[in-house]
Amino acid sequence: MPEPIRVVVTGAAGQIAYSLLYMVAKGDVFGPNQPVILHLLDIPPMMPVLEGVVMELADCAIPLLRGVVPTADVAVAFKDVSAAFLVGAMPRKEGMERKDLLSANVKIFKEQGSALDRYAKKDVKVLVVGNPANTNALICSKYAPSIPKENFTAMTRLDQNRAQAQISSRLGVPVGEVSNVIIWGNHSSTQFPDASHALVNINGKQIAVPDAIKDDNWLRSMFVEIVQKRGATVIAARKMSSALSAAKAATDHMRDWFAGTAPGAVVSMGVISDGSYGAPKDVVFSFPVTIKDGKWRIVEGLVIDDFAKEKLALTGAELEEEKREAVAITQA
Ligand code: NAI
Repeated sequence: MPEPIRVVVTGAAGQIAYSLLYMVAKGDVFGPNQPVILHLLDIPPMMPVLEGVVMELADCAIPLLRGVVPTADVAVAFKDVSAAFLVGAMPRKEGMERKDLLSANVKIFKEQGSALDRYAKKDVKVLVVGNPANTNALICSKYAPSIPKENFTAMTRLDQNRAQAQISSRLGVPVGEVSNVIIWGNHSSTQFPDASHALVNINGKQIAVPDAIKDDNWLRSMFVEIVQKRGATVIAARKMSSALSAAKAATDHMRDWFAGTAPGAVVSMGVISDGSYGAPKDVVFSFPVTIKDGKWRIVEGLVIDDFAKEKLALTGAELEEEKREAVAITQA
């Protein structure tokens, strides 16, 4: 067996981490032959709760889990890590303005970017889950200049999984038969879930999702709206935000990043934009990507119609606005 790798999860006493830690520890991300040492970061008031999480991880008796390091110190948390799940963030509280939320989170991700720069491995792969995920990832990367920009990504995999599930349910096929649904842009209500390039396997034949659904109107309206609002719908039912599905999506994202995508498979990730498909440059924008040898590449040459162009422009403009606000906060 190889040497264990160090993996940090921030927000480790929170609800997403509660599912995510188990999934990472038992090999869902790095495979059944890769031992891990988990670094758990949370804020000082959460240390007693974190102690309970550490006890439960021990009680799971997972052979691949070779160590657990609970801490409130970023220097300890990020030391020599190969992978970082940045889940911890300031939640939106009642009466809080969007700007206040952004301001609190910019500070967190500035500090964590600097700490990654100083203490993590230079090839660390960073997945930002904490919201606003795209802009947090951008800020984190700006404060970690010694780590390549390509190593900072934001999670839109939950949106992709939600979109895939909606199509499977509409067509009455198992979810695994649907592939290549794309999420463009920001992980927010302006995201554009796009099924126009998606595929479905029906009776052993792969066909385009729009040809199988035969209802462009549904794909452009209801489908988009259901996926955009799914997070709010889960909160309304559960009184808490999506956690199990968010953890599963985080493992899907990181596993594909480390292991690569299958031939022909396309996944969506928030990555630093090079301006492809008319997206603004230098924001973290969700694109369709393929992954090989630990490196993602934006899929080129997809045909984008006027409807999609409009949606991409809208979500791109929101990301530029978030970036302007975030940069102003860091310079204040
Ligand atoms: P939670 O509130 O249960 O847990 C968050 C944890 O982060 C808490 O334990 C808190 O103490 C900790 N934390 C706060 N500041 C920290 C800091 N500076 N360093 C380390 N830890 C810190 O929240 P939950 O449900 O686990 O969600 C976490 C984040 O993920 C939220 O921002 C949420 O909006 C976001 N999210 C993103 C999704 C996506 O698809 N990108 C999907 C679902 C949630």
